Amino acid sequence: MTGPQKPDRGVSTPGSIVLAMPGNEALARQISERTGMSLGSLETRRFPDGESYVRLLTEVSGGTVHIVSTLADPDPGFLALVFAADAARAQGAGRVNLIAPYLAYMRQDKAFHTGEAVSSRSFARLVSSTFDGLVTVDPHLHRYLSLSDLYGIPGATLHAGAVLADWIADNVDKPVLIGPDEESKQWVAEIADRLKAPFTVLTKTRAGDRNVKIDVPDLSSWGDRQPVLIDDIVSSGRTMIEAARQLPQKGSRKPVCVAVHALFAEDAYDRLAAVASMIVSTDCVAHRSNAIQIAPVIVEGLRLLGQTSRRTEAAS
Ligand code: R5P
Repeated sequence: MTGPQKPDRGVSTPGSIVLAMPGNEALARQISERTGMSLGSLETRRFPDGESYVRLLTEVSGGTVHIVSTLADPDPGFLALVFAADAARAQGAGRVNLIAPYLAYMRQDKAFHTGEAVSSRSFARLVSSTFDGLVTVDPHLHRYLSLSDLYGIPGATLHAGAVLADWIADNVDKPVLIGPDEESKQWVAEIADRLKAPFTVLTKTRAGDRNVKIDVPDLSSWGDRQPVLIDDIVSSGRTMIEAARQLPQKGSRKPVCVAVHALFAEDAYDRLAAVASMIVSTDCVAHRSNAIQIAPVIVEGLRLLGQTSRRTEAAS
């Protein structure tokens, strides 16, 4: 996945432009190189009182604009993202899509206590009223079956399983894949199938944001294999840390830890590094553990989104 890429011009429509919100420049450049879409630019800054200023520096009239903004830690940058989308529309962009490799606010998907905001619904409403389409990778779908249960715009829901499997195949000898909880089974089972490797899924009980209990069975029958712990999100890190900590006590080795979305809040990375043999992630969220490029997956998502948008336009 390194070296010069032949542009996949099939996903680019005339006048397609990729714009990066701050911090997303590397991914936007890779998407531009892989698709032949031109790379636009914008200026963002804060007024002295903390309000956001956004100015498009690229002509977008008549084109489709794809704004790249991963949504880890979304609160500080979300308004600027909305302003950028509105500025593109005001400048005559035909369509304005959001490429958000990590989609925020997917986990508070019900009111667990009276009066709690269901932030996944509110956030989906704000994004859906701002953009025409959404491309994202492995959103945390738990109580919602699909993104369309939440979002009112066409979307491409992509999966990192193939690129995670490629990385494991290239870097880990004789893997046994381990999911730390029932929800991770979807990734672990798919990757195990691709690699023709054994897998198991552990049982997790969460008592709070930073309080998880994981039951790990005896794993000594796979003692000659390298354990690879796989999860979609590492946030507080407690899920991965608790699973990784127990493996050597259960007849296994220190695991390689693989995540799609490397949020790593507070000291989560250092704590995990103390019990893991290696930590890797996709670049859906920029982090020092990034080792797996997500751009090829995103380019495929743009193709799918283009097909869906054309079908929707033809039907209306
Ligand atoms: C939850 O069900 C997800 O799949 C992850 O296991 C979870 O988000 C990890 O969170 P943390 O790193 O805070 O334990």
